[in-house]
Amino acid sequence: MTRRSAALLVLLVLGGPFSVLVTMLHPAAAGQPAGTADGDVEQGRALFTTGCSSCHGLRAEGTRRGPSLLGVGAASVDFWVSTGRMPLKTGGARQAVRKPPAYQRDDIDDLIAYVTSLDPDGPPIPELDLARADLAEGGELFRANCAACHGAVGIGGALASGRLAPPLRPASAAQVAEAVRIGPGTMPNFGPDTFSQDQLEAVVTYVESLDHPDDRGGSGLGHAGPIPEGFVGWLAGLGALLLACYWIGDRE
Ligand code: HEC
Ligand code: HEC
Repeated sequence: MTRRSAALLVLLVLGGPFSVLVTMLHPAAAGQPAGTADGDVEQGRALFTTGCSSCHGLRAEGTRRGPSLLGVGAASVDFWVSTGRMPLKTGGARQAVRKPPAYQRDDIDDLIAYVTSLDPDGPPIPELDLARADLAEGGELFRANCAACHGAVGIGGALASGRLAPPLRPASAAQVAEAVRIGPGTMPNFGPDTFSQDQLEAVVTYVESLDHPDDRGGSGLGHAGPIPEGFVGWLAGLGALLLACYWIGDRE
């Protein structure tokens, strides 16, 4: 075996498992079950009384510490609770932020049932059929309506108001659709008159595609950008080469 073919062999042997490892490290998509409309009003009332009424009032009429929830709609309750924004932590943050949700799916359904039993108005949880959605149209809608605040690839950004447009990666398809319909916080809402059902599905599909870009060159390494990618390239590529040289040199 010549030196060169030995080096090649070493590279293959070292490179194979490494690329498998990198693929394994690729983060899995966050899957949250979507909301349903079959919660239990009585259980929802109990959960609401303990967890929400101190700010929103016993019958969701609102208090000094939190707005009225009458007529906000199922989509709003589902969005704010499933993204962990609600219940708000006391201590007066400027903006409710995403945190691990405090309630399980069933409990969120019960809360939705209770709040919507008090006033059935407001946007329902959007039903999505993403199988035939138009990804290209979604991209156009996103660039025209969302990218200014959330960035071209949805990584988020600061707004002039001092608020933050959050990164879109953690949001499930249902949460993206809900955000579009309700317009949480300072985000504008895009109702059925602005975005048809097809357009909603297109933009949701596009936002979700940002989570799983087509990584033609191998693993995207968490899509942290070219600098970490280059670092891994140097470390792994150069490291393997050095090891190979070392090993070949040692044998003679
Ligand atoms: C510590 C006080 C506090 C608690 C507890 C709390 N909230 Fe809120 N909630 C707020 C405030 C303040 C806002 C407005 C936040 C904003 O606009 O950024 C809000 C907003 C909301 C909204 C959006 C309303 C709208 O106009 O679109 C929903 C829905 C909501 N809360 C539901 C809940 C539910 C359900 C619970 C219980 C699980 C809960 N909240 C617990 C203070 C609270
Ligand atoms: C004017 C700026 C602005 C525009 C335009 C805008 N957003 Fe937002 N968006 C926000 C802000 C601010 C929030 C956070 C709201 C809060 O928590 O108070 C947000 C929240 C969201 C979230 C929730 C993310 C999470 O935490 O899970 C999603 C999803 C989202 N936006 C999608 C969109 C989509 C899709 C569009 C285009 C159709 C869009 N936004 C347009 C400002 C904007």
